[in-house]
Amino acid sequence: MLPHGWIFLGALLCLCRCPVSLADVAKLVCYYDASSFVREGPAQLSLNELEPALNFCNYLIYGYAGIDPESFKIKSLNPELSYNRQHYAHITALRQKHPHLRILLSVGGERDLNAEGLPDSSKYLSLLELPENRNSFKASASAELNKYGFDGLDLAWQFPQLKPKQQQGALKRAWSSFKGWFSSSSIDPKAEEHKEQFATFVRELRVELQRNGKQLTLSMLPHVDPELFIDIPAVLAFVDFVNLGTYDFQTPQRDPKQADLPAPLYAMYDRDATHNVQHQLQYWLNHTANAQQLNIGITSYGRAWQMSPNSGITGFPPITATEGAAPAGKQTGQPGLLSWPEICDLLQHHLGQGKDTDNQHLRKVGDPTKRYGIYAYRAAGENGENGLWVGYEDPTTAAIKAGFVQAQGLGGVAFHDLSLDDFRGQCAGEKYPILRSIKYKL
Ligand SMILES: *[C@@H]1O[C@H](CO)[C@@H](O)[C@H](O)[C@H]1NC(C)=O
Repeated sequence: MLPHGWIFLGALLCLCRCPVSLADVAKLVCYYDASSFVREGPAQLSLNELEPALNFCNYLIYGYAGIDPESFKIKSLNPELSYNRQHYAHITALRQKHPHLRILLSVGGERDLNAEGLPDSSKYLSLLELPENRNSFKASASAELNKYGFDGLDLAWQFPQLKPKQQQGALKRAWSSFKGWFSSSSIDPKAEEHKEQFATFVRELRVELQRNGKQLTLSMLPHVDPELFIDIPAVLAFVDFVNLGTYDFQTPQRDPKQADLPAPLYAMYDRDATHNVQHQLQYWLNHTANAQQLNIGITSYGRAWQMSPNSGITGFPPITATEGAAPAGKQTGQPGLLSWPEICDLLQHHLGQGKDTDNQHLRKVGDPTKRYGIYAYRAAGENGENGLWVGYEDPTTAAIKAGFVQAQGLGGVAFHDLSLDDFRGQCAGEKYPILRSIKYKL
């Protein structure tokens, strides 16, 4: 047993080695969607364009790797890019110029899809069930990190997500109070076992990765209920930090007929009480004293719906009778998603002199309460054309959330994603304006 004096000395040494106490510096964890490297057109993000962001990030999370459904080994989702074109190696080589940066390989996210093009949580659950599956993953992941020089592994584990609730108004409220019933058995009958197995998996991985000095982190996906799958104290003991899935509460894919603010900071009137940053955070805080291990997710994109003539003209959310995802943006090409530069461009249209001005211009509605978030819209024309509603973050709202992180004494911010911020400075001349805005606030 160590005498107390040694423990004290040890603590003192640690304090002296880190003159700026870690507790005072919030982390900025930056997700990097590797597929942006091979996007067609103006949304393609080259390594040169990525670099200016790295001065602001403490962590770069490379998204995403997947899992082989037969062998349960980690696998690249784009071997041609990762290996043949050496993208893994080129990314981890960025550490030479940015020695402060830790670069983690993330597995899962919403990118590891099955043959039907859907996320496949059953694979992520089966992996947990048998020691040989866990060992296969563990050994392959450890080898992959070592081979390509990653600093650690991020588990963006594809647990089954809660289903959207379709109920409206009073019925919806009655339903929400019923939520205890509407839980584990319908999502995953073996949730209790999977929760235990995940804690075991994380502990085993930790031991393996630590041997090579690698880090281990957890990224919660939106709509994964930690109550079902995460033994919080057990998991937190073995990960460096957790990125909470505090975004995408409302999306056109989940809620095609109703547009709403995608990531309010606080609970909104007459909405699902769990669909806000504060609630999600509080759940974790209720199970751990260590707020420093928790990061809040902030996006650089907006979620966009198509408004119909029946969606009204006020724009005031929630917007009913929407017609699913808005058409893809000119740069990112993904229906229902608009990057910050795309939104910025739409907001600025009225300043230009194009003759389709009226069709293009979005009206921005701010949030003086600083609690719920902002949106922009244009009502549908009489023939039902051109309606658009987008809920999004801008540099100001992102700073409000970063301020929340500070005030709550949390670990930091998990930023989704570098490739959807304005990395060229098209909007206001400054590159990565949302990222910067978060950094200045932390
Ligand atoms: C956190 O704990 C408090 C006190 O027990 C409880 O009232 C609250 O509902 C909990 N919050 C969450 C989000 O679990």
